[in-house]
Amino acid sequence: MDLTSAARLLSGHDMPLLGLGVFRSKDGEETYNAVKWALEAGYRHIDTAAAYGNEASVGRAIRDSGIPREQIFLTTKLWNAEIRAHNEEAALAKSLENLGTDYVDLYLVHWPVREEKGYLRAWEKMEKFHKEGRARSIGVSNYHIHHLEDLLKIASIVPAVNQVECHPLLAQTELADYCAKKGIAFEPWSPLGAGKLLTHPVLTEIANRHGKTVAQVILRWDLQRGFICIPKSVHKERIQSNTEIFDFALTAEEMERIFALDCGERVGADPETFTF
Ligand SMILES: NC(=O)c1ccc[n+]([C@@H]2O[C@H](COP(=O)([O-])OP(=O)(O)OC[C@H]3O[C@@H](n4cnc5c(N)ncnc54)[C@H](OP(=O)(O)O)[C@@H]3O)[C@@H](O)[C@H]2O)c1
Repeated sequence: MDLTSAARLLSGHDMPLLGLGVFRSKDGEETYNAVKWALEAGYRHIDTAAAYGNEASVGRAIRDSGIPREQIFLTTKLWNAEIRAHNEEAALAKSLENLGTDYVDLYLVHWPVREEKGYLRAWEKMEKFHKEGRARSIGVSNYHIHHLEDLLKIASIVPAVNQVECHPLLAQTELADYCAKKGIAFEPWSPLGAGKLLTHPVLTEIANRHGKTVAQVILRWDLQRGFICIPKSVHKERIQSNTEIFDFALTAEEMERIFALDCGERVGADPETFTF
């Protein structure tokens, strides 16, 4: 396994195991530089969303990199308000325009909108986008098992990916096992607990044992679970150091010690109760 390693999705496309997240990266130079540094460091996968307001900076950095578009795996997401407003077509068109590309590698339904069963209704559009070639793979985000069960009853295309909050305090074992059984790739968001886990004593002890950072230990735990990681940073040296996860391995005992930290604690919104 190395930085070029990828997961083969149900769609038949390959998704690099490590990507750069850009949630809360400011539009403009901050996002532009983060994406530029990531591509220089060897990342070939960027995770953005219409709701992050920085698609244009992501697109500009990709174009300026000189790396052929087909070598970069680009994810964006369909925002909740667009689903509620039945505005999915215009939303994808706007994202593609902002990104300066005619397709995304992965388009995700950002949250399981409850109103009018938006989390199911939007899927029809997602399948259309996929058939048109504007979304090479389609998936979901923040879907729990019951959302997926409902979706699989009506879907012609099984989601390629489920992107959900997951980190050592919220290990998501049951949901991840369910996704694995269905062939749905599992992609943790806030893998570092949005930065809050980086001084945790157990993780620090394991990191010291390997001469690694806590961030690297958490990302390695994800890799060894078979997950796709999208840590966010706007700092060049952190973006680089978050790639250095392919040259060591956690023991079974260390994996278990990290699993033992699971206490169901979230750093973000709960998909059952979100209000945005
Ligand atoms: N689908 C969804 O609903 C959803 C929700 C949330 C996030 N996401 C996606 O998941 C990505 C990652 O999640 P996240 O951004 O919430 O949090 P995260 O990746 O868990 O943590 C990011 C935080 O950790 C810091 N950091 C990163 N690497 C570090 C290192 N090596 N050493 C020290 N600090 C480090 C960053 O600071 P600096 O930037 O200052 O370096 C930032 O404050 C997002 O960017 C987004 O793409 C998706």
